[in-house]
Amino acid sequence: MSPPTDGPLVTLTLNPCIDISYDIPRLIPDQKVHARADRYDPGGNGINVARAFKRLRVPAHSICIVGGEIGDFLQRLIAHELDHPHCIRIEGETRVNVTLLQDTPRTQFEISGTGPQVSALALQGVVDEVLNLAGGGFVVLTGSLPPGVPEEIYATLIRALRAQAAHCVVDAQGAALVCAIAEHPYLIKPNRYELELLLGRPLPTLDDVIAEARALQRRGIEYVCVSLGAEGALLVDAQATYLADTPTVEVASTVGAGDSMIAGLLTALSRGEGPAEALRLGIACGSGTASRPGTALFGYQQIQSLLGAIDVRRIPHTTGRAAG
Ligand SMILES: Nc1ncnc2c1ncn2[C@@H]1O[C@H](COP(=O)(O)OP(=O)(O)OP(=O)(O)O)[C@@H](O)[C@H]1O
Ligand SMILES: [Mg+2]
Repeated sequence: MSPPTDGPLVTLTLNPCIDISYDIPRLIPDQKVHARADRYDPGGNGINVARAFKRLRVPAHSICIVGGEIGDFLQRLIAHELDHPHCIRIEGETRVNVTLLQDTPRTQFEISGTGPQVSALALQGVVDEVLNLAGGGFVVLTGSLPPGVPEEIYATLIRALRAQAAHCVVDAQGAALVCAIAEHPYLIKPNRYELELLLGRPLPTLDDVIAEARALQRRGIEYVCVSLGAEGALLVDAQATYLADTPTVEVASTVGAGDSMIAGLLTALSRGEGPAEALRLGIACGSGTASRPGTALFGYQQIQSLLGAIDVRRIPHTTGRAAG
């Protein structure tokens, strides 16, 4: 386990968005439908992780790329929800994502925008800002990449941040994740499906998931956390596998559960707490968020009560494949 650092927490959102959600009775082809309610939220995984840090009362810096008047709006929204936002302005407009919540039949439609083109010069400015703010702290690299940003960007950042003794947490998919893993980040958090995609084959049993998480950990990643949705999560380090179920919550919307979990894991680890405590706080944050509607995240008091309901099992590696 690495020693805790007093360094800052930083999140990066290369492709943030305004999330617009409409409650509608029913979508009908070629007809206008009137929304019963609409709401606007700041979106993007890094922004969500930063919102979760604020809920945990942990100060964090949040770097994001914004463009145009939609970018102005985003900046206004996050000013209320984040502690230390750092917006880097580029040409073009920040994207808008739309969610339609239809009543009958109960269905959710989602459209994700592409995002503005990011020039090499602007991206260099972002990299410089990350290195400058992170010092020897912790950086969360998560979310999709906008046009113009190479898939190696997270890998490049991990390499540069390691040179200044910072720790990187990566929650990404596809080529961005593959490239990042080759640079040995501090922590990764795929869900089970993302792990299957990464390996190119199904992992039907918990033993399969644990074995693959261990194999990844041995490739030089300090912590591999695999989240299992309603079934909880596992965390692997060099010594052991830690496993826990989710506490019982009434699920309202799982949007933001994974981002909340990352904030919980990193809050504990950055304070020097061990993997069992990190997993417990990660699961509490994820489940707390799953119990809240729409894009709302867990509450601080709620976490205190959920923590007591989470039992973490430790399975030392020396005893072999002990999970079932
Ligand atoms: N249906 C649920 N019931 C209870 N807890 C949940 C549920 N879904 C998620 N969680 C909690 O949140 C954590 C992370 O969830 P999940 O595995 O779905 O992450 P994810 O797939 O990365 O999520 P996201 O869609 O936000 O990216 C879980 O380990 C669990 O603690
Ligand atoms: Mg996720």
